[in-house]
Amino acid sequence: INSQCVCLTVSTLERFEVLGPVQPVVAVAGEDVVLPCYLKPNISAVDLHVEWIRVQIDNPIVHLYRDHEDRNENQVPSYRGRTSLFPEELKKGNTSLKLYDVRSSDDGPYKCFVQSHDLVSVAVGTQPVISNEGYKEGGISLVCESKGWYPQPQVVWMDSEGHSLPAGHTETQRDSMGLFTVRRRVIVQETETNRFTCRVLQQELNEMKETITNIPGELHIFSINKGGGGVVVRWHGGFSQCLLCSGSGAQVLLGEEKDSGRSDTQIAEKFIYSSDVTLDPDTAHPELILSEDRKQASFADTWQDLPDSSKRFKYRSVLGKEGFSSGKHYWEVQVGDKTDWTLGVVRESINRMGYFKLNPNGGLWAISLWNSNDYKAFTDPPVSLPLSVKPQKVGVFVDYEEGQVSFYSVEDMSHIYIFTGYKFTEKLYPYFWLGFRKSAPLTISPVSHTE
Ligand SMILES: *[C@@H]1O[C@H](CO)[C@@H](O)[C@H](O)[C@H]1NC(C)=O
Ligand SMILES: *[C@@H]1O[C@H](CO)[C@@H](O)[C@H](O)[C@H]1NC(C)=O
Repeated sequence: INSQCVCLTVSTLERFEVLGPVQPVVAVAGEDVVLPCYLKPNISAVDLHVEWIRVQIDNPIVHLYRDHEDRNENQVPSYRGRTSLFPEELKKGNTSLKLYDVRSSDDGPYKCFVQSHDLVSVAVGTQPVISNEGYKEGGISLVCESKGWYPQPQVVWMDSEGHSLPAGHTETQRDSMGLFTVRRRVIVQETETNRFTCRVLQQELNEMKETITNIPGELHIFSINKGGGGVVVRWHGGFSQCLLCSGSGAQVLLGEEKDSGRSDTQIAEKFIYSSDVTLDPDTAHPELILSEDRKQASFADTWQDLPDSSKRFKYRSVLGKEGFSSGKHYWEVQVGDKTDWTLGVVRESINRMGYFKLNPNGGLWAISLWNSNDYKAFTDPPVSLPLSVKPQKVGVFVDYEEGQVSFYSVEDMSHIYIFTGYKFTEKLYPYFWLGFRKSAPLTISPVSHTE
């Protein structure tokens, strides 16, 4: 056991040092041991605040003496009933700790703090930092943290009007200097402004620091698949709104998924949407023209004379510019009244110069429309998809790690098809095939507000 003592208080009235042993204290399991600590000069510690802590653990109180008595309510449980100071010795400035029945778990560095009441050393902490943990327990979980306070400050969460919000308990930690780090979590619901404030205040010091966070207000789409069924959930700046569910929205979904033994975090993570897909001109077939913003592919009147590129497709296809080798990605494509199209992803090494099998073995995970009414999923062999409504806009969701590619009809938020249980090993690229006939363009549309 290393016992080390640190002086926290330097007062002009009483100046003292807190001293500990030069050598580590060695103890034998099962025996009692004294962790030495004393004041120099040997003024009485009876009226002081004496605190023994374990270094580098959370809530590290081993023994606390304050207001003339032991106050061990918040003591580390494993020390319960095994610690004491020496009341007679305290009068002589001896703040040594007796530890009974030493266990191997007691091993480690300790510190002894001694302070006088009225002259407390003070420290104003750092600007609070707010982090967003995403969807949790029916709302968005925000965590506020501030370091380097002494004495311990309070943490308050407030809405944009300054009303305090019900929040979790404040977690506190002591750093090696004995200063407090405070952390408090709040679960917030969507509001008009989505603005929340974390205030850390130390009333005795009349010090206050606060940080305001704005949860961004864009609308994103996230999807969830369960077996073959699926639902699309739109998230407003992280707040969920399930368009197919009635009642409490995505909570319903999360609840259902929870039964499969997964945590909220994992599920919420699954919804994280990213991709801003643009088309890659180097891959575009010579009969295709891309719009300036690279969001639309349409047919050219003639075969264009383009530089040779091994990336270019022999068929009337084009790929997304960015491939992905991890994560979850979602994009939407306007297919309108086109009579033929194919949408999905391909692996990087797909044979662009000639024939490739239209299925996952060939490196393609896609659904397709042929001849206006023949929807199919390119499995091996392909399966027909009996769609009652012709989708105008198709959502494509890829979960690389889960080996899933799923498709949605955006208008009615219905699930079209899911490829699942694959193991992706290569980069995947969004794939677009424009059809046998020179029909309307394909357009990647921004993921937009609920129509
Ligand atoms: C410590 O305090 C006691 C009683 O207050 C005194 O008798 C003694 O001389 C002091 N010892 C030292 C080393 O200062
Ligand atoms: C403090 O008290 C303990 C227990 O009586 C004793 O072992 C130790 O030597 C004392 N330390 C000093 C500096 O007097």
